[in-house]
Amino acid sequence: MRRACITAVGAYAPEKVVTNDDLSKIMDTNDAWIQERTMIQERRKSAPGETTSKLCIPAAQRALDKRGMDPKDLDMIIVATVTPDMIFPNTANLVQAALGAKNAGAMDVIAACPGFLYALSSGAAFIQSGIHNRVLVIGGDDMTSIVDFTDRSTAVIFGDGAGAFLLEADTEGYGIHDILLGSDGEKGDYLNMPGGGSLNPPSHETVDARMHYIKMDGREVYKYGIRKFVGIVEEICSRNELDPVDDIGCHLFHQANGRMIESIGSRLGLDPAKAPINITKYGNTTDGTIGLLTNDALNDGLINDGDWVLMSSFGAGFAWGSILTKWKG
Ligand code: UT7
Repeated sequence: MRRACITAVGAYAPEKVVTNDDLSKIMDTNDAWIQERTMIQERRKSAPGETTSKLCIPAAQRALDKRGMDPKDLDMIIVATVTPDMIFPNTANLVQAALGAKNAGAMDVIAACPGFLYALSSGAAFIQSGIHNRVLVIGGDDMTSIVDFTDRSTAVIFGDGAGAFLLEADTEGYGIHDILLGSDGEKGDYLNMPGGGSLNPPSHETVDARMHYIKMDGREVYKYGIRKFVGIVEEICSRNELDPVDDIGCHLFHQANGRMIESIGSRLGLDPAKAPINITKYGNTTDGTIGLLTNDALNDGLINDGDWVLMSSFGAGFAWGSILTKWKG
């Protein structure tokens, strides 16, 4: 059977490190509160002019370099983001131009935190169907461009970064075996950015009302998220006759909150070593988390050839996804 296989991974985070102590100088917060509630110690912040495409381009280039692939051989570039450089043209087009991927189509996917898994699913479908042979899937967000630094309950958790997966066809049993995607649109009010779209087009009033920033009911998102993460892991494992504890070599969870991941892990009975956490150093980079985490997990030797790897995410929408892959490499 022809499957989409992740054949290279790249990641990029901006240079500037913002510690919890740095934040405590501009808002009423402190290192102890942030670490106790989220595990975050620091996050990265983009430089002026370092837009989402500028985060995605080095992540993409690193993945291509690892595989030694010429960008002209790419058939499609998909970028998952909630912070596009502009509404249009899409961010994938900007990446396509910068890479010189002259033979590739380009499109963006907006599905908030699980957007990277929605983009990965789309890329996998292009490959599994035989429409394309080489697809670059990138998740990247410049979250500090939409964070309200007067709202301490959201400002402390987000950071900037990007990750990229190169997908190619495989017929030897490796690659993406199953995809679970879902949503509950009735919960959209719990996490959104109300301004800037056709509902609330930009105006002096929307700017004055701070509508171009993230609004989140963190408690509700946290509670619903934990139940959903546990549910989707159990469901995708059960329908593939795999045990989440014994059979999955590595669980790659969207990094929304380290305490949330600990709680999901303990409900599932996972060995913490199989559910790595790197939110400590990046914060929540929305579409960037799973690429950054995969890159770190590979560097730390947590993912090996033939392992079952399960990527799971949940976020605004609400929307969620879980992707089961047999790792090659
Ligand atoms: O990736 C997208 C999906 N997003 C998520 O999954 C996020 C899920 N939610 C969370 O991670 C947590 O809800 C947060 C970390 C965002 C917030 O933690 P919380 O325990 O839910 O805090 P809270 O908003 O309920 O606030 C508890 C208290 C409040 O004080 P009082 O009213 O009890 O006196 C807040 O004012 O903590 C206060 N607080 C802070 N204190 C110091 C809120 N933010 C801060 C802060 N520093 N940064």
